[in-house]
Amino acid sequence: MTTAATSTSDAGTVLAADPNWWRQAAVYQIYPRSFADSNGDGIGDLEGVTSRVPYLVELGVDAVWLSPFYPSALADGGYDVDDYRDVDPKLGTIADFDEMIAALHAAGIRLIVDIVPNHSSNRHAWFQEALASPRGSAARDRYIFRDGEGPDGTEPPSDWRAMFGGSAWEPVGDGQFYLHLFAPEQPDFNWANREVRDDFLHTLRFWADRGVDGFRVDVAHALAKDLTYPLRSHAELEKMRLVTDGSHPLWDREELDEIYAEWRAVFDEYDPPRIAVAEAWVEPSRRHRYAAPTSLGQAFNFDLLRADFDADEFRAIIDHNIASVAVTGSSNTWVFSNHDVVRHATRYGLPADHGREGAVGRGWLLSGGATPPVDAELGLRRARAASLLMLALPGSAYLYQGEELGLPEVADIPDAARRDPTFFRSPGVDVGRDGCRVPLPWIADAPSFGFGPAGSDASHLPQPSWFSSFAVDVEDAVPDSTLNLYRRALALRHALQGDEALTWIETGAAFVLAFARPGGWRSVTNFGDAPFTLADGLGELLLASGPIEGRALPPATTVWLRAAG
Ligand code: GLC
Ligand code: CA
Repeated sequence: MTTAATSTSDAGTVLAADPNWWRQAAVYQIYPRSFADSNGDGIGDLEGVTSRVPYLVELGVDAVWLSPFYPSALADGGYDVDDYRDVDPKLGTIADFDEMIAALHAAGIRLIVDIVPNHSSNRHAWFQEALASPRGSAARDRYIFRDGEGPDGTEPPSDWRAMFGGSAWEPVGDGQFYLHLFAPEQPDFNWANREVRDDFLHTLRFWADRGVDGFRVDVAHALAKDLTYPLRSHAELEKMRLVTDGSHPLWDREELDEIYAEWRAVFDEYDPPRIAVAEAWVEPSRRHRYAAPTSLGQAFNFDLLRADFDADEFRAIIDHNIASVAVTGSSNTWVFSNHDVVRHATRYGLPADHGREGAVGRGWLLSGGATPPVDAELGLRRARAASLLMLALPGSAYLYQGEELGLPEVADIPDAARRDPTFFRSPGVDVGRDGCRVPLPWIADAPSFGFGPAGSDASHLPQPSWFSSFAVDVEDAVPDSTLNLYRRALALRHALQGDEALTWIETGAAFVLAFARPGGWRSVTNFGDAPFTLADGLGELLLASGPIEGRALPPATTVWLRAAG
């Protein structure tokens, strides 16, 4: 249908029409409102992204994943979308988007956009129409409206809890309630409705026609739901979380296959086919369903993100995921940080007994003032070692803006400045995700650390004074800064990358993980407390995540080596 428009914005660029570009891409996540602000209103914008394309080129990433930039009241940081086929006026215009994608493509960088299909915002025209329409209307059928329960119908249809806290049902004043698995400002769509399905196909084509190379699919495992009565209790749903047969009423249902097969048909209208990566928090044995070539093609594996800095755990996860992608022919996805979790430079500096509760490492931040001390130096050393290991793994590596600076989590945002609905709905118990969304420091010695234009000190979340030591200009000038480590690693990764084979090298030390990639490329990580001597046979040293003397690999350090032949 739309094939004619496929690569207009690719014309004359350095991007080859390689259908496999995504398999081992280094993908850099931009959370646009916190990346770079071009006009000084304190909100990062698309022009800001365009202005930083040279930075991305120097960093050496293959693609950008852009978190939502659609019109939004920001009830959930942009994951509450008012209009799927437009740009938030606070972030720019469609023309700015076209300019941004042209600049990225001209620089050889692909663009993946975030798509949020489980729910719209409550300001979406369809939801407003649903509110204005009577029960049983076609407008209400696009969402999930149900009658209230109890003698006078004022009780919610079930006791389900929303992900951000509180009831998952919101009354609309006429005896009906609507379902929202996340914030009340995020009503869930009814994916059994044909109009909803068609509208998303329209949206996919809209962005693909503008040259977008792929889509990151938000809560991809939630779209299909079984709401036949009687609705099960919240406790029953929680118990069923572990089911792996597609029978949970809300998560990971079989009908998703059919939905994503339609998406796949749209992706395949383009040359090269558009790609997609599922955000699906499912049991690892179910991940392949989303990664199948008939479905979205790739799925995030959050296993390393949840793991301790531990050799056995890392090895088991790597083995498991290599086996898992072999089932579908997809490629692996590795990630340590994103806009939903505590930055890994901080996570790895937590006392061992503070674990990584809540899957996202936020347990330590829970209120009550009992914030445990973070060993920032250890956290950063481990984060650098883990990232260097990740960048040597076969598959794609997803990097979150600021991790290339070794940026820690901002733990002490004043309550009054917080934005994340998690904080407001828990209420106040879980501080939420703002600490990894603080605008980036670009220039140590500038108001808003260069996030905004010259002279502007506006920032939609407060930046701590210690951000100056992580600023891009500071790290740029320090040869062994985290920024320069990432730059060197990404450049070497490009030069060394062959096929997706990985072979473990047995070192005789249980606390050391060593593996070989094609072409003599090797990565060795010391997860232990004592130095480990690198045998000469392991090859010549190419890069180290920390200071290293001779052949002694210090604790929490990774090296890359190249073996002859
Ligand atoms: C995903 C996003 C998260 C958002 C949620 C609801 O998990 O990554 O930021 O809050 O979906 O859209
Ligand atoms: Ca701005």
